[in-house]
Amino acid sequence: MLCAELDLLGTVCYHPCLMIGKSSAVNPYVELMYTDFKDWAYDTRASGFRGLWRSEVFDCASKIPLDIEIGTGNGTHFAHRAQQSPARCIVGLELKFKTLVQSIRRARSLGCQNARMVRYKAESVVELFAPSEVNDVFIYFPDPWPKLKQQKNRLIQKKFLEDLFLVMQQGSYLDFKTDDWRYFRWATKQFFESPFEVLFYSEDLHSSFRKEKNFVTQFESLFIKKRQPTYYCRLQKQDY
Ligand SMILES: C[S@@+](CC[C@H](N)C(=O)[O-])C[C@H]1O[C@@H](n2cnc3c(N)ncnc32)[C@H](O)[C@@H]1O
Repeated sequence: MLCAELDLLGTVCYHPCLMIGKSSAVNPYVELMYTDFKDWAYDTRASGFRGLWRSEVFDCASKIPLDIEIGTGNGTHFAHRAQQSPARCIVGLELKFKTLVQSIRRARSLGCQNARMVRYKAESVVELFAPSEVNDVFIYFPDPWPKLKQQKNRLIQKKFLEDLFLVMQQGSYLDFKTDDWRYFRWATKQFFESPFEVLFYSEDLHSSFRKEKNFVTQFESLFIKKRQPTYYCRLQKQDY
């Protein structure tokens, strides 16, 4: 059985426990996260691994690169990246139980040992990772929050970029894609004002030279079908 409580972030947090009294309907993906995938997917308690991801979670050398993907969705890119780069580790951050389980299930079904998922708000990335603990970061099709009043909810904000810069190692890359032109304009302004170096941006990724290296995510394929362009930006935390 699983029961729910409010965690420190104010979101509903489920954990296995004995439920006394009436039974309640349980999201099957919550149950899977805490049973079949308990060693592969973590909740907010993953902040206890801060600074220890390589040694405690992946049991690998400190020089092995550790990447993160924010908002994995159903995990097509997450699993692809884990499979294509067995000499790197990847941690996915996702809020929805269903897509979180789909992501880790997909990676596991490809035989990947180097992938883990965490149910965590990406905005709190500094609680999960120590300074310079992270290598490359992927943010693909984050929620665009199109209305004016909603813009404060957008992931790409000054403070978030400063936090990402802090947890990333020098020389590492930040990859960003969106289908939303207004969000892209917003995000690129924040990128240019951030401590990152903007290496490349395009208002039509699929017509650019980066197309060959691009992996089409689930959301991206929906926009391709609608003949909408993919907006792309690649940044780097430069070596000094
Ligand atoms: C539009 S989907 C994109 C999924 C995938 N990247 C793709 O390209 O197919 C955005 C995903 O980000 C997750 N998400 C939204 N806000 C988040 C946050 N603050 N932290 C972590 N994940 C978040 C959502 O649950 C959703 O699965």
